[in-house]
Formats: sequence, C-alpha cells, structure tokens
Amino acid sequence: MRNWRWDFLVLLHLAFLLGTEAFKFHKTQRTERISGDHSHMPLVVKVETLSWFYSSAGDVLEDDPVGRLKVFVYELPSKYNKKILQKDPRCLSHMFAAEIYMHRFLLSSPVRTLNPEEADWFYTPVYTTCDLTPNGLPLPFKSPRMMRSAIQLIASNWPYWNRTEGADHFFIVPHDFAACFHYQEEKAIGRGILPLLQRSTLVQTFGQRNHVCLKDGSITIPPYAPPQKMQSHFIPPDIPRSIFVYFRGLFYDVGNDPEGGYYARGARAAVWENFKDNPLFDISTEHPTTYYEDMQRAIFCLCPLGWAPWSPRLVEAVIFGCIPVIIADDIVLPFADAIPWEEIGVFVAEKDVPNLDTILTSIPPEEILRKQRLLANPSMKQAMLFPQPAQSGDAFHQILNGLARKLPHDRSVYLTPGEKILNWTAGPVGDLKPW
Ligand SMILES: *[C@@H]1O[C@H](CO)[C@@H](O)[C@H](O)[C@H]1NC(C)=O
Ligand SMILES: *[C@@H]1O[C@H](CO)[C@@H](O)[C@H](O)[C@H]1NC(C)=O
Repeated sequence: MRNWRWDFLVLLHLAFLLGTEAFKFHKTQRTERISGDHSHMPLVVKVETLSWFYSSAGDVLEDDPVGRLKVFVYELPSKYNKKILQKDPRCLSHMFAAEIYMHRFLLSSPVRTLNPEEADWFYTPVYTTCDLTPNGLPLPFKSPRMMRSAIQLIASNWPYWNRTEGADHFFIVPHDFAACFHYQEEKAIGRGILPLLQRSTLVQTFGQRNHVCLKDGSITIPPYAPPQKMQSHFIPPDIPRSIFVYFRGLFYDVGNDPEGGYYARGARAAVWENFKDNPLFDISTEHPTTYYEDMQRAIFCLCPLGWAPWSPRLVEAVIFGCIPVIIADDIVLPFADAIPWEEIGVFVAEKDVPNLDTILTSIPPEEILRKQRLLANPSMKQAMLFPQPAQSGDAFHQILNGLARKLPHDRSVYLTPGEKILNWTAGPVGDLKPW
C-alpha cells in the first residue's frame, strides 16, 4: 500500500523537475541550470557575470577586502606551526585544515602588513588541530597549553597584545568545539573558552547559538573540504537528480556513546529508525567511492549534527548543488551574514526528524527549483572553499570581509598602561603547565 505511493511521489517530483529543467535550460541557457553548471569549467567561474542574476544572494559575498583592513602576522618559531605539520601531513587534507591554509594565504595576501604599527588585526599562526590520533582525528589535549605558550610569547616579545589583551587579535580555532578544546560537548562546555582568548576574535567552524563555546563576535567558517578532489568528481550537469534524499555517515557512535541518544542528540538514530526502509531515502553508513557523484544525483542531502553541529556535508551539498537539509537546532552557519542559508537550505528541527518524509515531500517543486538555482550560484560555492591559490570571493576573502566589517575597533578595547583584565592563572591546572 505504502510503496506505490512513494514511487508515485518520486516520479511526480522527478517528472516535474526534469520537465522544468529542460524548459529553463532552453530558455536561459547562459545563466540557469538546475543540475549544476560546473562540470565543464573550473570552480573559479566568473563571478561577475552571474551576480546580477542572484542579487538576493547577498552582495557582500563579492566584497573585496583589499584596502579595508591590514593584518600583521606574528612570526613564531616553527614548533608552533610548520614543524607540527611536517610530523603529520594529514593535517593538510582533513576538515580542520583551514588553520594552515589561512596562514599560508595571509603570508602572501595584499592585506598583510609588515608594519605592526599600521595593523588593524594581529594574527598568531598556531596549528592547534594538527596533533592527530592514528585515525587522523585531532587531539585537543595539548592545544590549550600550546595556545597559551604562543600568547605568552607574543605578549612578551611585542607590545601589541598588552595594549588590548587580544581584542585586536584573531585566532583560527577549527576544533570540534573551537577554543573549548574538547571533542565531547559536555567536556568542552566544562572547560569553556580558553581564558586568554576571552577578548580575541575567534574564527571557528563551531557555531551554535547560546553556547559557551561560541562567543559574541566570533566568525563562523566552513570546514575545509578539498576543492580539487571535489572538482575531479563533477558529473555532466544534465544527469538527472534521481535520488530524493541522500545521506552517508554514522547513525550511532557505539564506541563513544554505547547507550545511544547522546550522539547527535539522537537525531541521526531517528533518521535511521524512521527511514531505513523508505524508498525515498538513500541512507547508509557505507561511504561509496561514488559519494560525490551521488550527491550530484540527489535533490536533498541530509546535514544532521554529529558530535558537533557542523560537518563537511554542508560544504559538499553546496558544491554539488544538493539542497542541504539542516538538522541541528540553533546551528550558526558559516558566513551567515553573507550567505542566505534560509533560502538555500531546508531547516528541520531535531524533534521533527520522524516527519522528515512529509516535510520534504510537501515542499512545492517551484521552491525546490528556486533553491537549486541559488545553489548553482558560483559565488555561493566559492565562499565555501579554501582553494590553492586563493581566488576572489573564496572563504579566505569571506573571513577577511568578516574581520573588516568589525572595524574600527571600539576605543574602549585599548587598555591604559599597566591595566590588566585577563587572568593568566585561570583555567584547568593541566592547561597552565608549560608547553
Ligand atoms: C605584557 O604584560 C606582561 C604581564 O602581564 C609582561 O610580563 C610583559 O613583559 C608585557 N609585555 C611587554 C612587551 O611589555
Ligand atoms: C585568577 O584565577 C584563579 C583561578 O581561578 C583565581 O584563584 C584567582 O583569584 C584569579 N585572580 C584574579 C585576579 O581574579
């Protein structure tokens, strides 16, 4: 009884999408394609030519930060960055790699100044996510000591830290829970943000409203996903999206959450329990070699929270034109002031996961098409990526734009000589040991 109905619905959806797609394709071939317009060109598509069409997509995406801010890059001994990377080059390709690429980018960026006296922002290149387990996941245990050590160093060798106690300094902290430095939420909350970073701007992948690990004024960024690798998996844009809902990943993390319900606050388990036998849902724990291709054949890609609300799926969904279905209550999305996430994606409350099928099948086809058109906007994709070399409008530029928008610094951040606000002896005792 149930199955014919689903099949019918899928067919109806697809017939409509394909019909409309063909129609649109012929009508406005230059600018509008629903299944992605990227397979035949590099990711750097000429952003300008399309921008008029997507004016609702947020013009700030194309802001040029050059001339709007100057950044001074502290020179640290290589044990804080390059040496760590040499020990484990996997740090270059994991989803925490933004800290490395941002450092490299800034070294040769026109916003860099060698004169700290004229700098608007100070940047300390510390690679805190590059101490990896055999499985390649970052261990955060030494990160607080390492960060403290770096801050101690810049505070004693240059006068700029003490001037504001870090209020004109920014740090890249891409750990699961950012500068709380733990991968388990409870422990992360228990630690809180490293006391010495209380006044600084944190550039982080973690984003959740009203969470102790996200400070006001932080900049939420996309996780690193390898641009070349994704590009090499592009399929022809005319291949229809024959998968309704797609997801690959864990539903349970038995190793770390044997009782269940804690991992992903139960949302992933609910996806599995409710939809494992539903023909509209192509969901599994197995990561196929065709993962990137499959996303280009799917209409909706689930982006549920895991241990943290963020994951690379969000970036992959945008790059592959698959409408992200965001299941992570209170998530703060990357560059939310520049990217119209509400228009691109579908937001489903964690408690509504059991109704996911009804929610998604009730979205009118014209709304799906509108979201797909927005997703096809090259500037949207560009903003999600950290390409080598950097390109205008990419994630590096969005970070700089975010920093530029925070200028000028309020005069109140400048301390009177000798004034101290931060407490150098606060925090867990283990963190106070030298690094
Ligand atoms: C900054 O203040 C600390 C004390 O909090 C002091 O040890 C350090 O020498 C000062 N840095 C400079 C460059 O004066
Ligand atoms: C700094 O933090 C430590 C540990 O929490 C506390 O014992 C000390 O009183 C604090 N110092 C100041 C000046 O607040």
